[in-house]
Order: sequence, then structure tokens, then C-alpha cells
Amino acid sequence: MTAPTATASGTITIGGDLTVNRLGFGAMRITGKGIWGEPADRNEALRVLRRLPELGVDFIDTADSYGPEVSETLIREALHPYERSHVVVATKGGLTRHGPDIWLPVGRAEYLRQCVLMSLRRLGVERIDLWQLHRIDARVSHDEQFGVIADMQREGLIRHVGLSEVNVEEIEAARAHFAVASVQNMFNLVTRQSEAVLDYCEREGIAFIPWFPLAAGNLAREGSVLDEVARRLSATPAQVALAWVLRRSPVMLPIPGTSRVKHLEENVAAAGLELTDDDFRRLDEVGRTEWEQRPR
Ligand SMILES: NC(=O)c1ccc[n+]([C@@H]2O[C@H](COP(=O)([O-])OP(=O)(O)OC[C@H]3O[C@@H](n4cnc5c(N)ncnc54)[C@H](OP(=O)(O)O)[C@@H]3O)[C@@H](O)[C@H]2O)c1
Repeated sequence: MTAPTATASGTITIGGDLTVNRLGFGAMRITGKGIWGEPADRNEALRVLRRLPELGVDFIDTADSYGPEVSETLIREALHPYERSHVVVATKGGLTRHGPDIWLPVGRAEYLRQCVLMSLRRLGVERIDLWQLHRIDARVSHDEQFGVIADMQREGLIRHVGLSEVNVEEIEAARAHFAVASVQNMFNLVTRQSEAVLDYCEREGIAFIPWFPLAAGNLAREGSVLDEVARRLSATPAQVALAWVLRRSPVMLPIPGTSRVKHLEENVAAAGLELTDDDFRRLDEVGRTEWEQRPR
């Protein structure tokens, strides 16, 4: 039997005209340790990227800061021109890097414009299909950050705009400047702080891109809360974690990340995994309880 492809996850239309399969790919993990520098196995990273269209994955999330530059550069090497590869590349800007695992927001208008111009050049496109503000910079006014993004959209450098790690008030502030097509916040079975934002996105028809859908692999390990359901469905815990996220809302567009073809194939096969209503509810409760009991 052939494994299901990402088409089994159904589709979502971003910003009213950009339709992609709901199970996407996050390209942060095809870089070095601490998301800094080249990946340990460059050829395997390229194989992962080239396998995406074969598996029906047509939405790739990246950022200028992944590497920095490494992720965007590899995507271009593996998949450009994107129309021929049938993939949409969404990128982000607004975070600077000062070393492994160090991320510092800069939201000055000049810098955000440079982010977009450099991503255009690295990706080899004239317009970015979905450009996301990686973080709002608390030291810069909303008007300055959102204003320059609206300008760049008007100029045709950006097709759709998304936000990352935001609350409902921030989404509404941004909507005064441009249409918010997507929101990318941390979310998974055991990480629920963005439930209100997800519900808002569902009501408003905004794509919700949950980053960290596998809790960086913790939900893929044996012994996790997903084990029992996974065993019963002859699936892996990672697949159950992704199936649960996909089932949680029709606006959900998960982007699990991996540097290995084997894990990619396993994750994509989750698109065909259907949870019963009972399993969905039980996992929901177990995940929520774990989230509520986690020390903060
Ligand atoms: N907006 C933001 O602020 C933000 C922040 C972080 C990430 N993101 C985006 O979200 C994407 C996903 O987040 P993430 O990469 O942090 O977390 P994730 O997708 O939850 O987990 C990725 C990690 O899990 C491992 N993994 C993946 N599939 C596996 C499998 N089937 N079995 C076992 N381990 C597996 C990977 O290791 P291997 O490489 O060994 O497979 C990797 O270390 C990123 O790639 C990035 O595009 C956005």
C-alpha cells in the first residue's frame, strides 16, 4: 500500500487566492546547530527539500534568519523555479542573529525593507507569496513596522502578509494597515497558550500556522501521551500529534520541521490518519491537562 501524501490533509486558501495543502513543511531544521550555519548533512537537507513535491507538500515555511540565509539558499538550490516545483515559499523577516540560538527583533522600517529585498534576491523571485513579520519589535511603533509592510505590499514586493507570535490585539492593530493572511504561533497538543488566537483566526478566516507541532520531537518520542492511541492506530506518536493538530481546526496549516527524509515521509503520512471523535477528545483533554499542570 502506498503511503498517503499531503493532499490527504485537504487544502487551505491563504489570503483568498493562495491554495495549498494543509500539511506543510518548516525549513528551520535544515541548518546548523542552534539554527546557525550549514546543516550537518547538506546533501540530506537537499534531498528533504526535493522530496517535498513528490510527497504533495506544496507549502514551505522559512525565514531569512534560519542559518541566517542558509535555509532560503538551500530552498532555491533545490526547488527554484517554484512554479515548476509546484511549491509556495513563505518567508519571514524582522529577527536578527548574533550567534547560535540568539534571536533579536529589529522592526525599524529600513531594516524590514532590507529583509524583504534580500529574501527576494536569495529566493530568486520578484514577489514573495507570503511574507511574515517574524516578531513585533516592542521598541518600534506599530505604525512604523506595519506601515512599511503595507507599503511593500502596495509596491508588489509582497503578495500576502502574515504575523508571528502575536495576540488578538496585535492582529487587530495590524489589520488597520493590511489584511492579515496568516498567523504563526507556537501550538501543539501540550502547548495551548494560543487557543484564543486560533479561535479568532478560525472566525476571521485567517490561516493559523502552528510552529513546534511536534514540540521539537518530544511528542514523537515513545512514552509520550500519544503512545496508546498511536499503537492502536498502527501509527507513530509524531503522526498522531500532527493528525490531532490538523483535526483541531480547518484553518490549521502545520509545518513540522525535519532534516531527514525518513522523518519527512513519516510526518507526511499523518495527513491520511483519521482520529475518531473519541480519540480526538481524549487526546485534547490529556494534552490540556499536561499543559495546565506544567510549571510556569
Ligand atoms: N515563527 C516562529 O517564531 C518559529 C519558531 C520556531 C519554528 N518555526 C517554524 O516552525 C517549524 C516547525 O517547528 P520546529 O522545527 O521548531 O519544531 P517541530 O516541527 O515540532 O519539531 C522539529 C524537530 O523534531 C524532530 N522530528 C521531526 N519529525 C520527527 C519524527 N517523525 N520523529 C522524530 N523526530 C522528529 C526533528 O529532528 P530531525 O531533524 O532529526 O528529524 C526536529 O528536531 C520550523 O521548521 C520553522 O519553519 C517558527
